[in-house]
Amino acid sequence: MSTVQPTAGTDFPAPVAAAPPRYDETILKYFTIAAMFWAIAGFAVGVLLALQMAFPAFNLEPYLTFGRVRPLHTSAVIFAFGGNILFATSYHVVQRTCQTRLFSTKMAWFHFWGYQAFILMAGLGYLFGVTQGKEYAEPEWYADLWLTVVWVVYLVNYLMTLTRRKEKHIYVANWFFLSFIVTVAILHLCNNVSLPVSFVGVKSYSLWAGVQSALIQWWYGHNAVGFFLTAGFLGMMYYYVPKQADRPVYSYRLSIIHFWSLIFIYIWAGPHHLLYTSLPDWAQTLGMTFSIMLWMPSWGGMINGVMTLSGAWHKLRDDPILQFMIIALAFYGMSTFEGPLMSIKTVNALSHYTNWTVGHVHAGALGWVAYISFGAIYYLVPHLWKKPAMFSKGLISVHLWISTVGIVLYITSMWVAGIMQGLMWRAYDEMGFLTYSFVEVVQAMHPYYIIRALGGLLFLTGGLIMVWNIWRTINEPKPRVARPAKPTLAAAE
Ligand code: HEM
Ligand code: HEM
Repeated sequence: MSTVQPTAGTDFPAPVAAAPPRYDETILKYFTIAAMFWAIAGFAVGVLLALQMAFPAFNLEPYLTFGRVRPLHTSAVIFAFGGNILFATSYHVVQRTCQTRLFSTKMAWFHFWGYQAFILMAGLGYLFGVTQGKEYAEPEWYADLWLTVVWVVYLVNYLMTLTRRKEKHIYVANWFFLSFIVTVAILHLCNNVSLPVSFVGVKSYSLWAGVQSALIQWWYGHNAVGFFLTAGFLGMMYYYVPKQADRPVYSYRLSIIHFWSLIFIYIWAGPHHLLYTSLPDWAQTLGMTFSIMLWMPSWGGMINGVMTLSGAWHKLRDDPILQFMIIALAFYGMSTFEGPLMSIKTVNALSHYTNWTVGHVHAGALGWVAYISFGAIYYLVPHLWKKPAMFSKGLISVHLWISTVGIVLYITSMWVAGIMQGLMWRAYDEMGFLTYSFVEVVQAMHPYYIIRALGGLLFLTGGLIMVWNIWRTINEPKPRVARPAKPTLAAAE
């Protein structure tokens, strides 16, 4: 605390060096702005991808073809948007709940710039055709090595901040964030063990081969969903939902059960991505069983989040930030019901390789990941820039409704397209021949791809409205005060 002591012989207080601010907040602002920048970039590339699938003319040779743009989209939304907002919120939450500054501001800056450099290295690589060809782990060895350095700095900074805490207790949100940081490090290291074979052509080969390679890849891929897209965002949920609702977490005990059961079960469920492959049957069944078990902790967490509003349900009526958060939890519940269902072998026989999977992905990605992030961003921005509130509450509502319509169009079109696609592929006539040729199935998808592109466009529009609202909030000159009413004739008298 900065105190001002009077100096002997004068009545004036002597200037003393200002104490450092209580929390590191500039770095949080940078991570938040980076997240918004990458969100818009990633959504825009998503819309381009959707248009490419509806109208192949949108494939622009040679750099902007579907094969190169697809990893650009997934990395931009997951690692660039998702990553930056996870860093902003994890550094915010750890400081607030531990009542301390970050262990090292310099390390946090290294983390910020180092991570943006990684995104550029990865993204430019995709456009020029440099890739390992592993989904969600496309960057080649040089970017992987750099990311390892950046991630270790993040882990050390986070852990050391925890050790400097003024609170005895480590609030549950930090447990979720820490599990995200540690598990992603392990996944990254195990899945990317590779042998560089050319420094000029930046090419490497994985040390894993055959079915072991597939198993490790999907152990990685599924846990990227579990720990990047779920555990980290649950950490966000456990801090910002109670804050915005101004209520304690519904059940702290349930949050601890949620944490341990989720991390224990998630790690085994990867083989559900490899059903009906050469992976041993027992491993497929194990993946399916753990996926079904995963339903319980997921719903435990969702219920805990939603019930935090107990006694404050009325706030939902006119608080669009809380509405974002509760809709996020509803989508979390929905996609974690759909996931276990899709992991049942007979259901997966229909859904695998179809647009149903893409619908499931975006119910989780848009409805859960993006919505809980939007809620956290709307909470964070006025706090970080010391403004009384967001510039326009009405615009938050407009964002909410436009993007919700966008999500509904996206996921319903993909469900219908996916189930139709699966059923058309397996339809036989009475002679045992396939009823539909492959191209007929592609043609049948066309209207749904257009609807999906429209949904994506609405979602992107919502994102742009958010950016405008935040821009105005940050640049608002002074705290807004009600304009004094003009004196009326009666008052003048
Ligand atoms: C209880 C939780 C969940 C379970 C058991 C689960 C299960 C599944 C299953 C069975 C698939 C289809 C695999 C295939 O046929 O190839 C799948 C795909 C996927 N899920 Fe989930 N899911 C869950 C939650 C989520 C959530 C919350 C998200 C997003 C935030 C998500 C993101 C994905 C992604 C990205 C894929 C596509 C992977 C790919 O093939 O590229 N899942 N999930
Ligand atoms: C404007 C919003 C978005 C649009 C229009 C969009 C569109 C698309 C399209 C067209 C694909 C390719 C599907 C295919 O290969 O058949 C895709 C894949 C994917 N997108 Fe998005 N996307 C959007 C936002 C997001 C967000 C916010 C996330 C994550 C936070 C995300 C995660 C993914 C993932 C993981 C895949 C791969 C799915 C799979 O392999 O099954 N997308 N997206």
